[in-house]
Amino acid sequence: SHVITSRCAGVRDRACLEVCPCECIYDAGEQFVIHPDDCIDCGACVAACPVDAIYADVDLPEADLPALAFNRAFFGL
Ligand code: SF4
Ligand code: F3S
Repeated sequence: SHVITSRCAGVRDRACLEVCPCECIYDAGEQFVIHPDDCIDCGACVAACPVDAIYADVDLPEADLPALAFNRAFFGL
């Protein structure tokens, strides 16, 4: 699935919500998060985000691993 990193925080552009066909992007307060089980990996949100905050989990930079945990924890996973 795809993961929103902390670069979303303070920006919260919401363009990703507009393009996601699964409506699996949620407001987690300081940043938005993606439900790992509902994301179909279409990649539309990656292109839409103006600050490149979103990655496929397999391409996630090591420095952004905390974001993976944050996304999962929001959904109790
Ligand atoms: Fe939604 Fe596609 Fe982004 Fe997954 S990759 S969160 S399905 S827009
Ligand atoms: Fe955040 Fe980018 Fe979406 S800033 S709300 S991940 S478009």
